[in-house]
Amino acid sequence: MTITRRNLIKAGGLLAASGAGLGVLGGYRAVWAATPMELRARKTDAVIDGASVTKDVLTWNDGPEPPVIRVRRGSRFAARLVNTLEEPTTIHWHGLRIDNAMDGVPFLTQPYVYQDDSFDYAFSPPDAGTFWYHPHCNTLTQMGHGLAGLFIVENPDDPTFDDEIALNLRDWRLDGKGRFIAQFKPRDAARSGTFGTVRTANWKVAPQYDAPAGGLVRLRIAITDVTRIYEFALEGAEAKVVAIDGNPVPVTVDFDTMMLGPGQRLDLIVRMPDAEGATARLVNNRTTSPYEIAGFRAVGQSLKRDLREVGVLPANPVAEPDLDNAAILPLELSATAEAAPATESFCGSLGYNFWAINKVPWSGDSPDPHEPLYELKQGKSYILEMANRTPHIHPIHLHGLSFKALESTEGHVPANYTDTYLIRPDERVRLALKADNPGDWVFHCHIIEHQKTGMTGFFRVT
Ligand code: C2O
Ligand code: CU
Repeated sequence: MTITRRNLIKAGGLLAASGAGLGVLGGYRAVWAATPMELRARKTDAVIDGASVTKDVLTWNDGPEPPVIRVRRGSRFAARLVNTLEEPTTIHWHGLRIDNAMDGVPFLTQPYVYQDDSFDYAFSPPDAGTFWYHPHCNTLTQMGHGLAGLFIVENPDDPTFDDEIALNLRDWRLDGKGRFIAQFKPRDAARSGTFGTVRTANWKVAPQYDAPAGGLVRLRIAITDVTRIYEFALEGAEAKVVAIDGNPVPVTVDFDTMMLGPGQRLDLIVRMPDAEGATARLVNNRTTSPYEIAGFRAVGQSLKRDLREVGVLPANPVAEPDLDNAAILPLELSATAEAAPATESFCGSLGYNFWAINKVPWSGDSPDPHEPLYELKQGKSYILEMANRTPHIHPIHLHGLSFKALESTEGHVPANYTDTYLIRPDERVRLALKADNPGDWVFHCHIIEHQKTGMTGFFRVT
């Protein structure tokens, strides 16, 4: 098995000129997926809080952090998951519209992968954009301990920028000495979720990256955290939004602030300050005291680029839903007090039910034969009429199919296709999709404690 680190990006010239190599991903190790590549799930040690060594960190390959995988749209990607953990695992490719058999969901799409066992994934990503990968088994622990990596699908037709920085945003539940503490508290799981204590980007607290002064830098931001909702803002620079959740926005918009939840992605084109040494800061304003997520320092002579040069990225080939002939599917998100089943698979429940979809609580990833929420006919269009009957915000994610918000009681809806919709308390929204990918597709909240305490279901497309 070989993993090459060649810089195959079409923008290679520009990136090289801006000091590619390490610069390409701001020092974050990227692999061009030789195919097949190996992804070896393993336990390791890492310094997360900047001071102490954290044990029982989980990653794939040499680490410490999971590799950023880069592939080209439409090209064949293959990976062998080799499990050296003392527990089963799988890999789900979040946001990728691929074959159901490659979707990584235990019992629904594949057996889980035991210790010392392996599983071969292979697919050709139809869409370009910023995606990510993570296990779908014992998910709160496995993701909470590190298993979440970026999966970037390049489009050779994308415009070139002066640099590119990928940010994997996540928190860790650590004590003052860098030791893992309990991944969740039941009373928080029944509310907005249990938050991490150490907030990182690319496994570092407020990392600083160099970027060309006056240049246009593509930030690929992915929220891989299990709980935290972000309200992004940029200080010290202007930017444009070019993609949300991997899909280009149909009209580029000036970036001001944006609220996104676990599972979601944001592609920004940042215009770096002209003065050498000046910094731009990505911040999260959602917390009581806002904090810096990462900083970007202008280096070199100003490239004098202009944000007005930034146009719309080429669209992904998502089929337009046929709204005139779409069937309506009501979906109700609610709290529940129903007890969790006593026997569950290893991958499944946290032992509690706090949430339900259409009154049924299910944790997913378990062998109990649940019925799909709905059976969809392949090729037909649907409108999901989703109502949030809870006082909490939920990033609701659908596997295998992309959808688009039509209208909401909140007013404005994003215009892009997506795999995740952040539904506000008491919001009702209409989401449209064409069911063009057959299989059993999980539909769940991406606040993992909510997912694993009942806010999960699936659609069957036949
Ligand atoms: Cu990020 Cu069920 O997925
Ligand atoms: Cu939720």
